[in-house]
Amino acid sequence: MTSRNIQDGAGETARVVPADEKGIAEAARVLRAGGLVAFATETVYGLGADATDGAAVARIFEVKGRPSFNPLIVHVNGLEQARKLGRFNADAEKLAGAFWPGPLTIVVPMIEPSPLSSLVSAGLGTVAIRAPRSGTAQALLAAAGVPVAAPSANSSGRLSPTRAGHVAKDLGGAVDLILDGGPTEVGIESTIVACAGDRAVLLRAGGITAAEIEIVLGARLAAAQPGKVSAPGQLASHYAPGAPLRLDAHEVRAGEALLGFGPQDPVGAGQAVAALNLSRAADLREAAANLFEYLHRLDAMRPAAIAVAPIPREGLGEAINDRLARGAAPRETS
Ligand code: TXA
Ligand code: MG
Repeated sequence: MTSRNIQDGAGETARVVPADEKGIAEAARVLRAGGLVAFATETVYGLGADATDGAAVARIFEVKGRPSFNPLIVHVNGLEQARKLGRFNADAEKLAGAFWPGPLTIVVPMIEPSPLSSLVSAGLGTVAIRAPRSGTAQALLAAAGVPVAAPSANSSGRLSPTRAGHVAKDLGGAVDLILDGGPTEVGIESTIVACAGDRAVLLRAGGITAAEIEIVLGARLAAAQPGKVSAPGQLASHYAPGAPLRLDAHEVRAGEALLGFGPQDPVGAGQAVAALNLSRAADLREAAANLFEYLHRLDAMRPAAIAVAPIPREGLGEAINDRLARGAAPRETS
């Protein structure tokens, strides 16, 4: 099989290469250079980026057209690499031992400081990790040498892709490279289990059944409580820093820090107790990559409030504004 081009609906051409030695090497180079590679796992095709590269991870959200920054699964080549990213309790160790490599994603507390882009975990403090077992995914992870963030390689709301052609048709030239490892083996997404508290919680049913997991744990899984941990992005107040956020600010008031955007500084910017600009070039991808990190840094200065300059509500700006609006929403007291 040689490399071929497939036209998507919009006429954009996707480059598809077979997952042979040459294809794997090229895909690894693209990943390390900050590009996006769709690749076969045993569940569905993933839309992969270097999980330590904020701008590359931001592009995943852009290409999927996700309305919000859902946290992403980080793909690793085994438990050793996973332990550098998350804290594995006894349950998590048991599950990884029994089901990795394979279609199980384990949510564990994140190790701080983390090499991962803050966009990967959407500010949750936990990280979802999976060691896939497909030959293509394993070869790619080994060659790339970095953890790979990857949601399913489909536009938001569309069917999950289980063949390279599905990805090419849906996402086309928006992806730098599609690594064709043939049809996926499992065909549905991984099971997601959170091991971040006293009891393991089933967050998403998938390639491994609850019963199989319960046998290994020697205990029943707790069901995810709708609106709780499993749906972090749905809470009205979320992603909230200690300091109040004041959005769409055209001026900086006394005692405030400034989170700027674009080339123009708001009135009084010189008086800000601290100031960072999400993107001087008004590049929404750059702004999204910087968002959580900059909010953390400004919050650490303990300002009276963080004044946030207006950010356009288009493209990635929608997701940025969604996060900021949740951060600014009245805090829940319980
Ligand atoms: O099989 C799979 O899991 C595929 C392949 C590519 O590995 N990936 C996949 O990713 O299905 P995605 O993004 O479509 O679904 C990931 C799910 C989302 O529902 C997200 O909310 C959840 O994982 N998730 C990620 N990190 C989480 C976290 N820290 N806590 C709770 N849920 C998390
Ligand atoms: Mg999906």
